[in-house]
Amino acid sequence: MPYSDKVLEHYNNPRNVGSFDAKDETVGTGLVGAPECGDVMKLQIKVNPTTGVIEDARFKTFGCGSAIASSSLATEWLKGKTVDEALDIKNTQIVEELALPPVKVHCSVLAEDAIKAAIQNYQQKQDAVEAREPAAVG
Ligand code: FES
Repeated sequence: MPYSDKVLEHYNNPRNVGSFDAKDETVGTGLVGAPECGDVMKLQIKVNPTTGVIEDARFKTFGCGSAIASSSLATEWLKGKTVDEALDIKNTQIVEELALPPVKVHCSVLAEDAIKAAIQNYQQKQDAVEAREPAAVG
């Protein structure tokens, strides 16, 4: 089955490949796997804790072209969004943007799941920071 031009473009020029230090408290890491095919996606966000804005994003995907394109696109969409806005990114938007066929929809689900996992990881870290350093009063 031929890939769409947009999938091929991201596949050939993936944006934001790489990783951040997962121990950094301003970094959220999402690592998810697709049971359908065994592909694995790691997606990370780097957040400004004061503004809640995602300032940078990285991914590493061991998977098909659609999974690579979905995660590349996701990192582009994440940058500049607040964490709350990022939670609104839906796999259906990725399907539409990349013109994914039905058999490749799960690749976009992997990206949505990775975004949500990364945000959850970031928020858990921030909760731990707050528990350790209660906000200054006054
Ligand atoms: Fe499974 Fe694309 S075929 S993630």
